[in-house]
Amino acid sequence: MAPFKLAIIVGSNRKASINRKLAQALAKLGEESFAARFAQIDDLPMYNQDLEVEAWPESATRLKEAIAEADAVLVVTPEHNRSIPAVLKNAIDWASRPSGKGVWGGKPAAIIGTSPGGVGTACAQQHLRDILGNQGALVMGGQMFITWKEGLVDEAGTVTVEATRGFLQGFMDRFAGLVGKLAA
Ligand code: FNR
Repeated sequence: MAPFKLAIIVGSNRKASINRKLAQALAKLGEESFAARFAQIDDLPMYNQDLEVEAWPESATRLKEAIAEADAVLVVTPEHNRSIPAVLKNAIDWASRPSGKGVWGGKPAAIIGTSPGGVGTACAQQHLRDILGNQGALVMGGQMFITWKEGLVDEAGTVTVEATRGFLQGFMDRFAGLVGKLAA
């Protein structure tokens, strides 16, 4: 049985998201170390502080529980206009509330993303590292930019390019090593 529980957040709500495909491949590559579950963010309302007192959403509770219960969080995200997508920022904001009751503090996290562009997601990853770091998450160092090509991940969630598969396996192994050290 995999020793660690992993919550995966995909920063795209698009049905055909290439980042979701990459996330599925990563879940598969990491399955010896991580029992992965995808955290749903597409039904979160847009954050509004009024909702905290008037109508705290069930979807935000569900997201917070998914993160709190996990030993680690993997964020797989596109880049939108040189930063993180609004849907991802919205999810991070909900999980940081109410003030002092957020679930990011001390949480091991890793960041990765893919884009059809060569260094796509570089700015998004840098911004995300800053945001999660400010919330007290323990974000693994290094950056991983995956240039998306049609067919990179097949229907079964297998990475079809050997070199990329090895690279991504190394990423998941490194993350498992970090989570293990922090758990010890
Ligand atoms: C993009 N895209 C994009 N790509 C990139 O590498 N850097 C960027 O700044 C942007 N900006 C951007 C803004 C908006 C509003 C959209 C819709 C798209 C292209 C993006 O990488 C591409 O659409 C990916 O397919 C998005 O990932 P998902 O949703 O398929 O996972």
